[in-house]
Amino acid sequence: MRIGIPAESRAAEARVAGTPETVKKLVALNQTVLVQRGAGAGAFIPDDAYAHAGATLVNAGEVFDADMILKVRTPTTDELGHMKRGTVLVGMLDPYDADQVARIRAAGLPAFALELMPRTTRAQSMDVLSSQANIAGYKAVLLAASLYPRFMPTLMTAAGTVKAARVLILGAGVAGLQAIATAKRLGAVIEASDVRPAVKEQIESLGAKFLDVPFETDEEREAAKGSGGYARAMPASWLARQAALVHERAKQADIVITTALIPGRSAPTLIPAQTVAAMKPGSVLVDLAAGRGPDIDGRRGGNCPLTQADAVITCHGVRIAGHTNLPAMVATDASALYARNVLDFVKLILGSEGQLSIDTSDDIVAATLLGHDSSLQKTA
Ligand code: NAI
Repeated sequence: MRIGIPAESRAAEARVAGTPETVKKLVALNQTVLVQRGAGAGAFIPDDAYAHAGATLVNAGEVFDADMILKVRTPTTDELGHMKRGTVLVGMLDPYDADQVARIRAAGLPAFALELMPRTTRAQSMDVLSSQANIAGYKAVLLAASLYPRFMPTLMTAAGTVKAARVLILGAGVAGLQAIATAKRLGAVIEASDVRPAVKEQIESLGAKFLDVPFETDEEREAAKGSGGYARAMPASWLARQAALVHERAKQADIVITTALIPGRSAPTLIPAQTVAAMKPGSVLVDLAAGRGPDIDGRRGGNCPLTQADAVITCHGVRIAGHTNLPAMVATDASALYARNVLDFVKLILGSEGQLSIDTSDDIVAATLLGHDSSLQKTA
């Protein structure tokens, strides 16, 4: 088969879906790999490295002339126009965006949205949300540290003592846990909260304090279990108690990092405007849910409604960072991990002779194939 790896065309997308390491492995699986010239530029991977790994370098017009296309981000309308019907598409395809899914289906492409990966042990090596969230959690802390007008660690100097920064992390999934670990390395004092009480131990083992919002009803307990390894929306009663606690802790915090997401739904509001107004001047909020919060007058914030996607703003003396693509700011490692996720997935849909072999009785294939019953249920 011919497998195409195009340069990503969306703004500020520096990642690439294949690296020389994964190209070499695809070639060893009898694949012809076409890499668009410059595809690795954003991740500082030169064309020569791809050629050395066995890829054929092609230009933009030729890369889509393949049997399978590996992408980071969902294709633009222009890119879809270059793909012939029947070309297999693999990438982060925005499966909860009904219009985009309809465009891909209208183009006649069997498409695998890797965001729909089941949270099972077997699927772990293909879990792009985890590999990229890990990077986002790390980068969020570095970004916060660079916006924060003080030191992170306690410092004892001849000119006096500096107190460690207090960091509040809301949502302790993959990104939140990495944010805790990174902030800890920088010497901060950390508190963290999540709807899933199971993360208490993980939070504490990383050296942070768990902020508990105890459940009061069976409905709250049930919702907190999530579904299929992903969070579900919590009842209003629990969210109200959480908001009161978060408000008090945010007032004491120097840095707040929010990471709460619910697949297929708007991200919950955890830091309302009045909480920002109560925060200390000079404090920093990094909102990893930027652009995914509830729609307010046609604009979507994040876990904070004041957040502006892809901007750093100052509100009530608080700097709010709303970067929507932190993994692209760590493009080399983000690409390396993403490309390995993709490679493992591609192996799953290749037969022993390197031919395409899509087995919809496989739970990973069924869950990620757009238009297949199980993914339709998720996008409904
Ligand atoms: P995510 O990115 O969808 O959400 C981030 C975090 O926000 C989650 O921990 C969620 O519980 C939390 N959250 C949602 N609403 C909230 C609210 N109102 N207040 C506070 N927190 C809220 O989740 P992510 O990071 O993709 O995965 C969550 C967990 O799933 C992981 O920590 C891990 O335990 C598990 N997982 C299992 C895998 C496997 O078994 N293969 C792979 C990846 C994750």
